[in-house]
Amino acid sequence: MIDCVIEQTNLYIDGMPKKERKKYGQFFTSKETAMFMAGLFSIAEGKDTLTVLDAGAGSGILSCALIEVLQKEKKVKKVSLTCYETDKNIRTILQNNLDYVKEKAEIELQYEIKTDNYITSQYLDFNQMIGGNPEPKKYDIVIGNPPYMKIPKDAPEATAMSEVCYGAPNLYFLFASMGLFNLKPDGQMVYIIPRSWTSGAYFKKFREYFLTEGKLEHIHLFVSRNKVFDKEDVLQETIIIKVRKTQIQPLEVEVTSSQTNNDFENITVMKAPYSIVVSGEDKYVYLVTDMDKIKVLETLNKFEHTLPDIGLKMKTGLTVDFRNRDILRDKNEEGAIPLFFSQHIQNGVVKFPINKEHEYVVTEQRGLKQKNKNYLFVKRFTAKEERRRLQCGVYLSRRNPQYDVISTQNKINFIDGLSTELSECMVYGLYVLFNSTIYDSYYRILNGSTQVNSTEINAMPVPDLEIIQEMGRKIIKTHDLSEENCNKIMEEYCG
Ligand SMILES: C[S@@+](CC[C@H](N)C(=O)[O-])C[C@H]1O[C@@H](n2cnc3c(N)ncnc32)[C@H](O)[C@@H]1O
Repeated sequence: MIDCVIEQTNLYIDGMPKKERKKYGQFFTSKETAMFMAGLFSIAEGKDTLTVLDAGAGSGILSCALIEVLQKEKKVKKVSLTCYETDKNIRTILQNNLDYVKEKAEIELQYEIKTDNYITSQYLDFNQMIGGNPEPKKYDIVIGNPPYMKIPKDAPEATAMSEVCYGAPNLYFLFASMGLFNLKPDGQMVYIIPRSWTSGAYFKKFREYFLTEGKLEHIHLFVSRNKVFDKEDVLQETIIIKVRKTQIQPLEVEVTSSQTNNDFENITVMKAPYSIVVSGEDKYVYLVTDMDKIKVLETLNKFEHTLPDIGLKMKTGLTVDFRNRDILRDKNEEGAIPLFFSQHIQNGVVKFPINKEHEYVVTEQRGLKQKNKNYLFVKRFTAKEERRRLQCGVYLSRRNPQYDVISTQNKINFIDGLSTELSECMVYGLYVLFNSTIYDSYYRILNGSTQVNSTEINAMPVPDLEIIQEMGRKIIKTHDLSEENCNKIMEEYCG
């Protein structure tokens, strides 16, 4: 059955311009991925009718894969399927495909295709507002590959689900929230979505809802990035998740990974403690694929503080240079102050000047200036092929004593004291942490992008200030800023 559905989908893709499909955030799941997703449900024996929801069904690939798996498992007699699909171009194909499956399948299929917008047609139910349906339809199983599309913050879908939005949301996590809402208690959902929601402030409200109402049971990762959606240039890193609607936290999460989207034969399988995978107040999801990564998390999680807990904070550089062209200078002049770029961070220290264009600014704007004091500078952007995400440099004010204030380009971050100034020992101690291999690994598990965000850094575990200072004193004594030396010092405290 699935081969026929895939064939029809390919004909549709060939005949429909990408631009048209993009309007609906439309791209299709491969046969192998769909079959893998369908196989993740654990269906209890003896159930007569299984109610299933596939919202944003496209051509019905996922529904069809599910029927195939259920048919093989012989655990249910009848499936009652609800599909939502707003694109009329694909709807005829969806209907033809479901008719075909209904005719061929050995289990009874009853289906309906809803043409309504999945989100706005039932938001009153989600928000439990007056006028909401007191008994919204709930399903045993939800399967989905939701539309991937950013929408304005005042779009009807966004205002309908403000509870999970922060700024302009993406349809994919509105679908995931509504999918969970549509599940019966203890029901299961399997979704393929980008991994971006697993960290960051932007997704905090979504994570809070999603991981309170539901619990992760399985995560599947694709090792090579761009291959998940054949024929489509979806560059986002994508993951498959299985979530159960329950308040009970499982002890473990099954984590699997495969190289690509069509090779589920050679997958790696492991179990990770739930408390390691979902952790912290912000409910970050740590995508651990092997025991080494679990060890990294366990080791650093022993540190009980975060930077803000100990009176420090990572902030983003103050000056957006291309928006302030008139204040940029190539050479020093009366009233000019240094503007630090990532190029000034070299081998663990901050060098200045380096004869770089625009390395000075002349400005009266207070928001672009900061006190000339000690900081740890950390690059915000690194190239994908670079060995480390965290690249930092010690900045000591006494090296540039002629300035009261300095400025930083917004492509670097800096760690500052909230009410006190950082001593040299503190800055060097922070350098030991952020230049160690284990911190770099921790950050990569937390955030898959090449960007270093202050929100995530401020949530990372750190030792108390005393220990950081001690680490600083040790590295100062050795005169060796190498990663190996930082690791050696770290080991003494990470036993
Ligand atoms: C990423 S595609 C996935 C298609 C199919 N589930 C699959 O896996 O191949 C998402 C589908 O959702 C549909 N869609 C977009 N916005 C929708 C909405 N608000 N309500 C219902 N369907 C929507 C799109 O037309 C598209 O077919």
